[in-house]
Parts: sequence; C-alpha cells; structure tokens
Amino acid sequence: MDSMRGIAVVGSINADLLVTLERHPQPGETVLGRTMTVLPGGKGANQAVAAALLGADVMMVGAVGTDSHAVTALSALDSAGVDLQAVQRIDGGTGVAIVEVSDDGENTIVVLPGANAAVTPALVAASEAAIRTAAVVVVQGELPADATAEAVRLASGRAIINLAPVIAVDREVLLRADPLIVNEHEGALLLTQLGGAEAGDHAAVVAGLLACGFASVVMTLGAAGALLSDGGAVRAVPAPQVHAVDTTGAGDAFVGALAARLATGGSLDDAVRVAVRVGSYAVQRPGAQPSYPTQADELPAGHEV
Ligand code: RIB
Repeated sequence: MDSMRGIAVVGSINADLLVTLERHPQPGETVLGRTMTVLPGGKGANQAVAAALLGADVMMVGAVGTDSHAVTALSALDSAGVDLQAVQRIDGGTGVAIVEVSDDGENTIVVLPGANAAVTPALVAASEAAIRTAAVVVVQGELPADATAEAVRLASGRAIINLAPVIAVDREVLLRADPLIVNEHEGALLLTQLGGAEAGDHAAVVAGLLACGFASVVMTLGAAGALLSDGGAVRAVPAPQVHAVDTTGAGDAFVGALAARLATGGSLDDAVRVAVRVGSYAVQRPGAQPSYPTQADELPAGHEV
C-alpha cells in the first residue's frame, strides 16, 4: 500500500459451518436441520471482503491453520483481491464457526477460534509498516485482546474498533477508536464496564460512551438501522425495509462498508448511511460474505435511505 492509503483489517478468519433449520432448539432439545454448507467467515475476513468488494484497497492480517478449512476460509478474500501476505499459517486447525440460521433469518453462532487464538502482538507487529501506513485500521473482538491492542497502537491512521464481542482492551487503547462500533448489547455492556452513567435508551448509551472519551461512536440496531455521534447530537439512520434470509455477518458488512467510505475521505454520516444500505443488502443473501455490487452507489433500489 502507498503512504496513508487503504485499509488494514487485523482480525479473525473462519470457516462457517452454516446449518439451516426451521427453528432454533431450546436448551436440552434436539431438532432436525435441513442443510449444511461450509462457507468463508470470521468477523475480520467478512469486513475485509465487504470493504474490498466496495472498491477499497485492503490488507488482511491474521492466521489460518494447516487444515482444509483454510482453503474455504481464504477463498472469498482471495477472489475479492484482498492482500493476504500478512495471513500466517499456523500448525493446527483454522477457526470454525457453527452458524445456525432459522427460517426467520435469525442466527446463533458458536466460534472455535483455532488459529485466531494464536495471533500474538508479535505476529501483528510483523506487519507494522502496512498497519502504520493504512488510512484506516479495523479491528474486532475475535482475536486475543493483546494482539488487537497492538494493532491499534501501531495505527497512525484512523482506528475503527468494532468491539464484537466485547473483550478486555486497555481503556487508553480503546479510546483511540474513531469510531467505536458496537451493537446495542455490546454498547450497554461496555458502558457499564467503563463506569459510565446508567443510560435509559440506545441514544443515551451512545451519548454515555462519548462522555467516556470516545471521539465518535456508531451503534448498529439491526433492522432499525444505526445511531451515530461524533460529539454533536446523536443522529439516527433508518434501514430500508427488507426480507432477511440470513443476518449472519450483516454487522460485518456494515463495518467493512463504513471503513471503505472513511478510507476515501467520506464523512462519518455519509459512511453510516452507506453502511446501513450495505448491511440491509447483505441480510437478503445467505452466508457472511455475499457478493455485493462493486460500488456502494450501485446498490439496487430499495437500499436508499
Ligand atoms: O459476524 C459473523 C461471523 O461471526 C461469522 O462469519 C462467524 O465466523 C463468526 O466469526
């Protein structure tokens, strides 16, 4: 990557074992599934693919194993043109996620981290030059916290921290997020952990997180769209009404699209508007790495907000 351009995604890479079923089982219950497909996934990889398909120059930093799942896990990253030079192969298994999607499009996910758990600060630091020169560095919560923190420390461009799931990253490192991206559950949990004032509704959680010292905060709300603030009032961006068939990775599509827009100098409001459209597009297709129109502006009618 040239100086201060492109996106470095430091994050998880998985193979998703996608099981479709009529409804999710209750604890202790057995239900019959319909189909099982092995697809590429992992929050980091999903975000990298989305950003690359929307035209960004993306480098992925992470690890896969030496098993056959590695081939699946890297397939869409490769086809999307993501630079995989900083993806290391570690003896053992690739990260795997058991993803169950019911007829109403809702999912449950169990992640077995595999090689992702072996990503160390040293592995991240081996890509120091690429991370330092990236206009945008994106991290999530599926790598060990010390490796995630190292990526943020090395970033000299904009750091997007998608704290999904919420992991214990040093407060000083976390506050470098611009923006912090969380869903409503992650936002409420993080606010409590940071000792913020109790908040009555989602907008108050966003305001509370800003009061903790974040430069900007984005909260995803699924079918309801997103909230954002970079210090002023909390703004709402509604989502188009669509029929969801699989919500897996919708938040990742959102993050990837937002990163792609910010990397080309878009405002946070503009980036969130595009990201909401891309997330709504993604839920209408199965799998966590669906193909998108290659430019956000080409998203079909019905994705206008
Ligand atoms: O956010 C969805 C992703 O979470 C899946 O692709 C799965 O691999 C887990 O990481």
